[in-house]
Amino acid sequence: MSNLPSHVAIIMDGNGRWAQKQGKNRTFGHEKGAETVRSITAYCSQHSEVKQLTLYAFSTENWKRPKLEIEFLMKLLERYFKKELSTYLEQNIRFHPIGDLSGFSSSLQKTIISVCEATAHCTGLIQSLALNYGGRDEIVRSVQKLQHSNSTISEASISEALDCVNDVDLLIRTGGDHRISNFLLWQSAYAELFFTDTLWPEFTIDELEKIIAKFKKVERRFGGVN
Ligand code: FPP
Repeated sequence: MSNLPSHVAIIMDGNGRWAQKQGKNRTFGHEKGAETVRSITAYCSQHSEVKQLTLYAFSTENWKRPKLEIEFLMKLLERYFKKELSTYLEQNIRFHPIGDLSGFSSSLQKTIISVCEATAHCTGLIQSLALNYGGRDEIVRSVQKLQHSNSTISEASISEALDCVNDVDLLIRTGGDHRISNFLLWQSAYAELFFTDTLWPEFTIDELEKIIAKFKKVERRFGGVN
């Protein structure tokens, strides 16, 4: 039996370097990165083995970036959601944001929530975008929710109270670095990790297919023996 990549998560790194390589501003890389988000999402929605795709779009640490870059990213997200809603509906994709949305402007929060609500009935791929997301922050918020509701603290209850309840099967990072940068810390406990030097704007469906093919051959023991 081969592994199924039910939940694929991607750390989309390398937008800035890709743009700088062509002598352009870093924001040009984010613009191109958004196109890669579209093509990889479309591929996963047609590839029935992948049930959930979670993409790291903006971390709790990304607020340290230059103000102009942050402003650009906020506008890009707003544009992306407005334009993409029809695609989500056409492709039966359910959009589910993870992260602390309260950090965003009320207009961006409204846009994000409206896409979430408009696609709530979709039964195909779940596309999650991590927005103002940090794995540690998510765990703290989960435990706080349980404390407020006087629930027992257990692995199962913490998991259920997280923004993202599903374990990750395959975690990919583009851009050449070998770290997980506070992404899905809890959910990646048994994920298979794949790192590629390809910069996110140049990441292709073909490369994703090759990674999935390798993933399928890995023996996953989850701490046991086979
Ligand atoms: C990392 O590249 C990328 C980000 C911090 C932002 C990710 C954003 C996108 C892929 C585009 C917008 C997304 C959507 C959903 C519209 P980097 O800037 O850290 O690149 P570098 O490591 O080369 O500097």
